[in-house]
Amino acid sequence: MLKTKFCKLNLNNPTRLASGIMGVNAGQLIRVAKEGAGAVTMKSIGPKERKGHKNPAVIEWNHGLLNAVGLPTPGYKNTEEEFEELKALKKIRVPLIASIYGSKASEFLEVAEYVAGKNPDAIELDISCPHTEWGGTQFACDPEISHKIVSGVKDVAGKIPIIAKLTPAATSPIAVGVACEEAGADAICAANTMPGMIIDVDARKPILAFKKGGMSGPALKPINMKIVYELYGKVKVPIIGEGGITNGKDALEYVMAGATLCGIGSAVYKHGSGVFKKTTKEMEQWLKQNGYSKLSQVRGIAHE
Ligand SMILES: Cc1cc2nc3c(=O)[nH]c(=O)nc-3n(C[C@H](O)[C@H](O)[C@H](O)COP(=O)(O)O)c2cc1C
Repeated sequence: MLKTKFCKLNLNNPTRLASGIMGVNAGQLIRVAKEGAGAVTMKSIGPKERKGHKNPAVIEWNHGLLNAVGLPTPGYKNTEEEFEELKALKKIRVPLIASIYGSKASEFLEVAEYVAGKNPDAIELDISCPHTEWGGTQFACDPEISHKIVSGVKDVAGKIPIIAKLTPAATSPIAVGVACEEAGADAICAANTMPGMIIDVDARKPILAFKKGGMSGPALKPINMKIVYELYGKVKVPIIGEGGITNGKDALEYVMAGATLCGIGSAVYKHGSGVFKKTTKEMEQWLKQNGYSKLSQVRGIAHE
């Protein structure tokens, strides 16, 4: 009932572990796959080893998380072992999505070339991280720059599908999504975290060490939902709905808006990896109770 085709990949269900929640650690990613995620995404890999920002780097607030982990990465040259171990995912038939970033277009290409050599099932481009010194969100705020990065990576990635990850902070995420598709993106993720800040009144300063961060979790859902809804029909490639999914109804909402996959991040952080089984079970129950036999019957239905 929930089996899903995404960029020629066959998934047992439409959920995917969002990037950055389980690092690049093979053991953790394999565990999440075994616990029911339809696909798993590695934390974004960058060109050089990087420690990320000081603590506090992740805080929980009333409606989700605010993080400025600052893209810590071992650097692509130090991911050999993880990719080797992650081959185990092939046996349990859970696709591996690698995620990459750079501080400029040429770095994206450098990392993409290496990562493509490791043959993941797809590569996601984090052109939308809101807490880097180089203002990472800016890539996905600009259709031209996004086009340049996607088309460059597409050239070096060969047959591996490319996913462009949008930012809700763009004036027109739809224009950026369309530009990414034109540049050769095989799927669009809508979307990354929303830039934000929380101030500790007693300390009289921002709580995060990096001051600003990316807001995720329940408060993000209506924002990213609108992007998925507006993107549907404007692009032909599949869309990943991501932001604030914690249960089956949240995921179904994204599917009804037009999403093919449903990314789950903060809910795994908060509730553990059992959230995948819970979400898919609730999706199935709702579909059955409402007389549907396949998830595809409700995809985009909110547009009718
Ligand atoms: C602690 C943390 C780290 C993250 N790291 C990355 C990352 O490395 N690359 C990326 O593309 N997105 C990263 N994200 C964004 C998530 O992948 C996801 O797009 C976002 O949190 C929205 O989904 P959610 O509301 O389910 O968490 C991170 C999010 C969190 C909370």
